[in-house]
Amino acid sequence: MRLLYCGDIVGRAGRDAIIQHLPGLRSRLALDFVAVNGENAAHGFGITADICRKVYDAGADCILLGNHAWDQRDIIGYIDSDPRLIRPINYPQGTPGKGEALIDIGRGRKVYVLQVMARLFMDPLDDPFAAAEKALATHRLKREADAILVDMHGEATSEKTSFGHFLDGRVSLVAGTHTHVPTADAQILNGGTAYITDIGMCGDYDSVIGMKKEAPIDRFRRKMPGDRLGPADGEGTLCAVYVETDDMTGLATRVEAVRVGPRLANAVPEVAAA
Ligand SMILES: [Fe+2]
Ligand SMILES: [Fe+2]
Repeated sequence: MRLLYCGDIVGRAGRDAIIQHLPGLRSRLALDFVAVNGENAAHGFGITADICRKVYDAGADCILLGNHAWDQRDIIGYIDSDPRLIRPINYPQGTPGKGEALIDIGRGRKVYVLQVMARLFMDPLDDPFAAAEKALATHRLKREADAILVDMHGEATSEKTSFGHFLDGRVSLVAGTHTHVPTADAQILNGGTAYITDIGMCGDYDSVIGMKKEAPIDRFRRKMPGDRLGPADGEGTLCAVYVETDDMTGLATRVEAVRVGPRLANAVPEVAAA
């Protein structure tokens, strides 16, 4: 199976990058399944139902969120009606939405998607390791799902790497999101799980993690309340991770970073025809 997971969409630049590049990638890479992180899609903060529709129309099968899940209040009333829109599973009990989705992709195949949020330098949530252990006890590779994609949404590389090794051999992919900066460590771990510490964002890289540069620089320099943060609006770059899995085991046989756009060195995997 061929999977693609696109990093955090930031504002219009990120949305336009997805709309412009994802349909072509979907056919060029003959993708079976596409997930997208949309936590910053609405002007840098949260997502709306309307944006969800546009991301699905561009070729996404599933949208994941993160710590910005609730920045657009309307999504709170919408999330339970959309089985393909998920937020971190380790939010407190009673939080709207769900942290997992088992998605039928046709020809009897299912992909299980799970999102957890890290805790270092993040909001104090329930233990993401325990939450993943519990969720995966009933969602096993080649039993309940043909492929399993897990998003570890967090700041600290050490916590994300530990989590990748923790799930090694049990899932197809552990991919980090949230920092908006792509890491160069895409690899297949010893047990067969594809791993990358952070995919990077889909957004304008002439920015501070997707935001116009002036306000964040000013905040760091002066430690005073300054201008509001707003998304940078130059042309966006799509960043994603591409994974091929073995149909017999569900584990990864190939993992590569994908970058398409004006500022970062571009990378698109060469693949055989499906
Ligand atoms: Fe983000
Ligand atoms: Fe985040």
